[in-house]
This record gives sequence, C-alpha cells and structure tokens, in this order.
Amino acid sequence: MPAGRLRLGVNIDHVATVRNARGGAGPDPVRAAQLAIAAGADGITAHLREDRRHVRDADMERLAAELTRPLNFEMGATDEMIALAARLKPHAACLVPEKREERTTEGGLDVVGQHNALAPRIEMLRAAGCRVSLFIEADEAPIAMAARLGAPVVELHTGSWCHAVADGDDARAEAEFRRLRHGAAFAASLGLEVHAGHGLDYRTARRLAGVAAFVEFNIGHFLVGEAIFVGLPQALATMRQAMDEGRAAA
Ligand code: PXP
Repeated sequence: MPAGRLRLGVNIDHVATVRNARGGAGPDPVRAAQLAIAAGADGITAHLREDRRHVRDADMERLAAELTRPLNFEMGATDEMIALAARLKPHAACLVPEKREERTTEGGLDVVGQHNALAPRIEMLRAAGCRVSLFIEADEAPIAMAARLGAPVVELHTGSWCHAVADGDDARAEAEFRRLRHGAAFAASLGLEVHAGHGLDYRTARRLAGVAAFVEFNIGHFLVGEAIFVGLPQALATMRQAMDEGRAAA
C-alpha cells in the first residue's frame, strides 16, 4: 500500500519567545498560527510549560477558541495541565517530560518508569475527548508501554538523530535513523499512530518522510527561524515540498 500524505503540525512556541523578550503583545503567536494554517499547516502545536517561558495561558485559551485546524496541546503530565486541557478540550494532548532547567524537551517521557502515575492522567485526557499522544524515545519498551497505557498516538523524539546529523557524525546519525525507522514500524505494528518531532529541518524532514509509518511531523524552532528570512508561508511551502518529496520516495 502506498504511504499516505504526511501531516505537518506547526509549533508556534518560539513566536511567543520573541514576544516575551520585550514583554509586549507582539509578535502574536495566535496570528502566526492563523498564518500557518492559511499557508497549509495541518494543525498547530503549542507547549504550555510550567514556567510559561513562551506560550502563556491566555495564548492557549485563544488558540483553543480561534483556530480552524486541530490544536495539539503539549504539556507536562501535571494536575494543573490536565485540568486545563479538560476545560479547553483541544483536539490532541501530547504528554512530554518537563524539567525547569532544560532549554527544550530533552529526551522522551519515561513511560516505563512512570506508568502508574501516567495511566490515570491519560484516562482523564481521554475522558475529556483529547486524542492522547506520548512523546517518547523510539525504543521498543516505551512504545510497547504506550500501547499498554491506551494512548492512540506516539510521537517519536527525533532530537538525537537531528543532533547527530547537525554534528556531521554520520555513524551516529545512521544508527539513530535506524532506531527511528524501526521504532516507527514497531509502533505502527501495535496499532499506534506515529508522529515525529524535535529538531527537524528541511533535510531531516525530507529523509524521515521516506519512512512510511510516520503520519505527522511537528516542527517549530526551525520554521520560526526560517520565517525571519523568507516569511512563514514560504518556510512552510518549502517544508511541505521537502516532506512530499521524501514521502514520494517511500
Ligand atoms: N514535538 C514535541 C513533543 C516537542 O516537545 C517539540 C519541542 O517543543 C517539538 C515537537 C518541536 O520541536 P522543534 O521546535 O525543535 O521543531
């Protein structure tokens, strides 16, 4: 069976990072989300971190109320965030690990070690009507646990692979790429929908799109950075083309 079209979710967190640098109202991440949708984004992702370093509660409220495409609410698995998601009812809720001192989400969620704590929280999100996704490493143990926990979606962390590619470490990059490819196929074989994200750029997105098991990529920092030079619609168009070319080769 030919692989289907890949969805592109656009993460607008770092539009809020730039806004917060000056403490005013702009640039507005909701405006960026609307522009991304007009330019063909299949959905919008935003991560409300515990420290509110980029997206804030008022942004999440507006995103949930105003977007015409699905909202993927990224969050730590805390009572506060679960309660907010239950109220805002985004299309999807993606549970990620969160440490205050990290610069970004480093490594996947420890679903094996934390399954007892995660199970009721996943249930609460499901009961609120959210499609639950778990952001995990592309290894069999966390993938199998995600399936046992009843999450319909896993998002595989592409950070280690993207770092290895950026470092020019070909051997490590190939090993990481194989880990992702195997993890995606394994997850799909368990009936999970498979997404990918973290650190993707045009080159890595094109290559990963060739792995048929992936259904969606969530991409933020690179697109917001590119938008400074070419504008968000052009950055999305080039990303879309890269993903379509990679998928055609699948
Ligand atoms: N997916 C998840 C679960 C993430 O935590 C992040 C980073 O917030 C992304 C995708 C997007 O990563 P990037 O900004 O590096 O493209």
